[in-house]
Amino acid sequence: MSNLNEERVLSVKHWTDSLFSFTATRAASFRFVNGQFTMVGIEVEGRPLLRAYSLASANYEDELEFFSIKVPDGPLTSRLQRIKEGDQIYVGRKATGTLILDNLLPGRMLYLLSTGTGLAPFVSIMKDPDTYDRFERIVLVHGCRQVPELAYGEAVVNGLSNSEIFGELVRDKLTYYPTVTREPFRNRGRITDLITSGTLFDDIGAAPLDIETDRLMLCGSPAMLSDLRELLIARDFVEGNHSEPGHFVIEKAFVER
Ligand code: A2P
Repeated sequence: MSNLNEERVLSVKHWTDSLFSFTATRAASFRFVNGQFTMVGIEVEGRPLLRAYSLASANYEDELEFFSIKVPDGPLTSRLQRIKEGDQIYVGRKATGTLILDNLLPGRMLYLLSTGTGLAPFVSIMKDPDTYDRFERIVLVHGCRQVPELAYGEAVVNGLSNSEIFGELVRDKLTYYPTVTREPFRNRGRITDLITSGTLFDDIGAAPLDIETDRLMLCGSPAMLSDLRELLIARDFVEGNHSEPGHFVIEKAFVER
């Protein structure tokens, strides 16, 4: 398998019945930009079964980290959810993706807007010192149906706030805004509605979206991305890519339905 590295699972954590994260060894030759994705999988019936996964670890870390849903009849995740420390997995030798800082025009506020496992690439972005160099304020919005689905994101943000290297920067610049749609919680509603109504900006003490200063990265379901894209385009925001940086960038959360 020339395009795959064989890695070893180092830890697995189950957050809910439908969400887990895991860490794995990293080949010294594997390079990526924070925010990118690669292929991950296991051997099934003698062949690698792979899906795209965003890297939730930063590119300077020794271990790889991934955040995954468990789909009961999903060909890969129904099996992958049973991995244990020491198991072998496949990880692609190359990473790619548009959710990278270089695809954004310079700005002051960076909004990281995610639903579900769309949080994963932003974990990598939040661990990147460059993010804090380029932006004065970073706002992580994570939308889920139910409160327990926020647990991984909460743990990551707590870990970063308490980290020796990043703690001060994160406490100073990062605002974490979890929101839930299907049960009571301190923040409620879809990201789209929170932006349209202005509730998000009121709650975090920020001005409404401003094309001069605000940049956005979006990662979630196709429906969420399409609605947010429309909302941004209506405000004249331009989507960025590798050939031309823009006001916002988009990647779908890699999940099997
Ligand atoms: P809702 O509960 O109102 O559907 P999912 O698991 O379906 O991907 O949903 C994850 C989160 O994203 C849920 O809170 C869901 O809200 C929200 N969501 C689903 N579709 C959209 C959309 N088109 N725009 C914004 N948020 C969405």
